[in-house]
Amino acid sequence: MNIQTIMVVGAGQMGSGIVQVAAASGLKVLLHDISIGVIDKGLTSIDKQLSRAVEKGGLTEVRKSEIRSRIGPAEQLEHAEQVDLVIEAISENMGLKTSLFQKLDAICTPKTILASNTSSLPITEIAAVTQRPAQVIGMHFMNPVPVMPLVEVIRGLETSQEVFEAVYKLSERLGKTPVEVKDFPGFVSNRILMPMINEAIFTVYEGVASVESVDTVMKLGMKHPMGPLELADFIGLDTCLSIMEVLYDGFKDSKYRPCPLLRKYVKAGRLGRKSGQGFYSYHG
Ligand SMILES: NC(=O)c1ccc[n+]([C@@H]2O[C@H](COP(=O)([O-])OP(=O)(O)OC[C@H]3O[C@@H](n4cnc5c(N)ncnc54)[C@H](O)[C@@H]3O)[C@@H](O)[C@H]2O)c1
Repeated sequence: MNIQTIMVVGAGQMGSGIVQVAAASGLKVLLHDISIGVIDKGLTSIDKQLSRAVEKGGLTEVRKSEIRSRIGPAEQLEHAEQVDLVIEAISENMGLKTSLFQKLDAICTPKTILASNTSSLPITEIAAVTQRPAQVIGMHFMNPVPVMPLVEVIRGLETSQEVFEAVYKLSERLGKTPVEVKDFPGFVSNRILMPMINEAIFTVYEGVASVESVDTVMKLGMKHPMGPLELADFIGLDTCLSIMEVLYDGFKDSKYRPCPLLRKYVKAGRLGRKSGQGFYSYHG
């Protein structure tokens, strides 16, 4: 399988990062989202990232325009018929994802691989709504995509060996280190990370320590580069809550219950960095 052209669906923080990395490795990339306004916002954030890399001396102007020339907006999802691989990076919601995969299944050529960047949702369940479960796979990038070297490659129950190998090789071509993971709630990364973040939120909720104190303990005491609450804001509190719900539903074990404070913040629209307010404030 020779993957040359891809579409990324979802122009948020993950989608934009994936587009940037894919274009930098020589792939042609289309970016789709719910409206041209959102697509443009994603493209603007990619431009900013590339310009920052030029300023820091990590990229030349020529290389920047080369990368940029491989990226195009796709206002219509139907443009997915032109690509070898679609990487879905839309909001962490099963209903939204299955509905998108059904549409992609109808639009794409039979050879096209459909990958999901889901943080926790079962790949097997997403694959089951399509007529091509052998060609559906998880490709879990880490945030920020241009910086983090890991990709968890998740085999659904029906994912073919050929598709697994193609996506594994592609991850290497993107300069990443792929790790094979089976399809279980939270995979490996979030099964371990999210309960730690959730527990950090419980310590604040129960008044054990302040937000700053919890983060300081983990940074200075455990050598974590970022405190868990700072990290939660960075990931997005809505994404953190969705992942905890998936772990709780998937294992039916109360140790995964989301902290009520996390739920309250998401209900209030405090989603972290992307909304300007989470455990910390990002206004101004
Ligand atoms: N944030 C992280 O740290 C992180 C890390 C790894 C994986 N992920 C996963 O990546 C995915 C995206 O997360 P994000 O942080 O980029 O979210 P985000 O909220 O920044 O972006 C999501 C984008 O999806 C778009 N979208 C929603 N429904 C759509 C649809 N039906 N069609 C097209 N576009 C649609 C939204 O308009 C938005 O631009 C989620 O599945 C998340 O779990 C997130």
